Amino acid sequence: MCGIMAYIGDKPAKNIVYNGLKRLEYRGYDSVGIATLGETLKVVKAVGDTSKLNLNLIDSRAKLAIGHTRWATHGEPSKNNAHPHTYGSITLVHNGIIENYETIKKTIKATDLKSQTDSEVLAALIDYYYQKSQDILEATRQALSEVKGTFGIALITKDNPEILIVARRGSPILIGIGNNQYFIASDQSAILDHTNQVIYLEDDQLAEIKPSSIDIYDLKLSVQDIDIKTLDNDSKNLDLGDYQNFLEKEIYEQPEALNNVMRGRVSSDGSIVLGGPNLTQADILNLKQILIIGCGSAYYAGYYGKYVLEKILNIPVSVEHASEFRYRYGAFNKENCLAIFISQSGETADTIASLREAKRRGLKTIGIVNSVGSTIAREVTHGGIYLHAGNESSVASTKAYSSMVVALLMLGGFMSYKQGKDSAICQNIASELLKLPNEIYLSLQLHSKITKLSKQITKFNDCFYLGRGVLYAVAQEGALKLSEVAQVHAQALPIGEIKHGPIALVDNNLLSVILLPEDNLLYNKGLSTLEEVKARNGQVLTISTRPKEPLSDFHLQLSHLGEFSDGLIYNVSLQLLTLELAKNKRLNIDRPRNLAKSVTVE
Ligand code: AGP
Ligand code: GLU
Repeated sequence: MCGIMAYIGDKPAKNIVYNGLKRLEYRGYDSVGIATLGETLKVVKAVGDTSKLNLNLIDSRAKLAIGHTRWATHGEPSKNNAHPHTYGSITLVHNGIIENYETIKKTIKATDLKSQTDSEVLAALIDYYYQKSQDILEATRQALSEVKGTFGIALITKDNPEILIVARRGSPILIGIGNNQYFIASDQSAILDHTNQVIYLEDDQLAEIKPSSIDIYDLKLSVQDIDIKTLDNDSKNLDLGDYQNFLEKEIYEQPEALNNVMRGRVSSDGSIVLGGPNLTQADILNLKQILIIGCGSAYYAGYYGKYVLEKILNIPVSVEHASEFRYRYGAFNKENCLAIFISQSGETADTIASLREAKRRGLKTIGIVNSVGSTIAREVTHGGIYLHAGNESSVASTKAYSSMVVALLMLGGFMSYKQGKDSAICQNIASELLKLPNEIYLSLQLHSKITKLSKQITKFNDCFYLGRGVLYAVAQEGALKLSEVAQVHAQALPIGEIKHGPIALVDNNLLSVILLPEDNLLYNKGLSTLEEVKARNGQVLTISTRPKEPLSDFHLQLSHLGEFSDGLIYNVSLQLLTLELAKNKRLNIDRPRNLAKSVTVE
């Protein structure tokens, strides 16, 4: 959840760590801190983001530093609870949750705690063993063997500026390699300016890093092989350019992102070729069930995929919240069930846990992931599809969501072809997809119209988002975006469900956003809902490919591309609407209240 950045090497560490933390703020931004270790240990902390740190209080010459931006799980966002935490000789930054921290606290009689965090208790436990052995590697190993929960940690001992220890279980840690220097981060965006050579620490591994050497161990201190990977260097995505915020920038990057996800995969001859999923024709022919698993926007992208895959593959597809699936019993036949895991970060704790559960049950697993080399990308059994959407910095997902949907559409076309189905299905999908980036570009031209519309509807604090089929999936994604960024309560419903209860809430203060489809029959069914809402004095915003209906209060007309991809055009208009509503309310657009980009805790 939080961001970790650390440095050890032959250069002054302070600014390297500070700049890395700035890149990571989207992962958590309630408080921040840096510790430098030169001749002495110096620590600075603040509530809020990196701009609140007084860097004059730490050592400019120290060549070892650890830093942290926090997303509080245990204890309010405050200076005392901000990391790094020092206990005895140990100073650490921690990402994750120590579930048995209360027990540990009592067992080791940690009486000198200054914060309410679980993280400081971990520092105390490592210190407890360090005081006995004076061996930091052994002390960390012993402590981590007792800990329940998740951690990504970087720690230093106050008496040795030549050693940095890092470790992980369930929270990402990657180690960038430079000349006589190492850059440690919870996310590649923090280190891309320095190196593209990295080591991904695996669960229950710890590393002892000195300015010119690194050793990796497991929790028995057996030496582990070191596998160096090369990162995609997409650091151009890390700056705002001419935009005011990353959300707007990333909305506008969608035409390019969609071209990227399709590059080399969708051809103008109507073929779709995916080299990533390692599924044989027999695997695909034998499939009897598909599960799609993710959280938040990734889940809603999966919902969109469900409607399309079911229709073209004629296989039952269920979409599962990862936080539910990981604890759910279900009858899955491992021979003919495929589980698809969707994640922008590839590090979402619930999705990782579900992936491991699916593997434990013997299911074939593939990933649809943006972050190259992330845990989900590495742990799936049968490969997958990288999105190549570039870095997504805004907490709210936009271009990654659209790319996920396109990846699912490509997968559908590819699998239907492998199933030996009418090749026209694959060709139709391919032909729509190839036109989609330009259609998205054109729909972005509606921005000024949507800005005007947003002024008329800023007053609404409650909304229904209503749609059917893929437009219900889009309604869910739109409602999530509106809640998280514009802080408007929004509930998505299948359009036909409203009359079964929720219509009780309809009055002049509630806005129903009705997504009407191109299809004539379903368009007219949608009009009945419009009538029902208006009959109860509700306010309605219709979004459709046709001109305004007389009864509708507000309207947005979009262009029509095709049944598979129209949903993404509707979605862009909802993204822009959310953006403008958040601007009208002067909210923090890239870092909405209470959120963090990548949820690496349960
Ligand atoms: C999207 O706008 C949200 N911030 C959130 O729902 C997100 O999609 C979810 O946490 C899943 O993240 P992932 O794609 O990195 O797994
Ligand atoms: N559990 C720790 C805390 O509340 C770390 C949270 C995080 O991952 O940011 O400080």
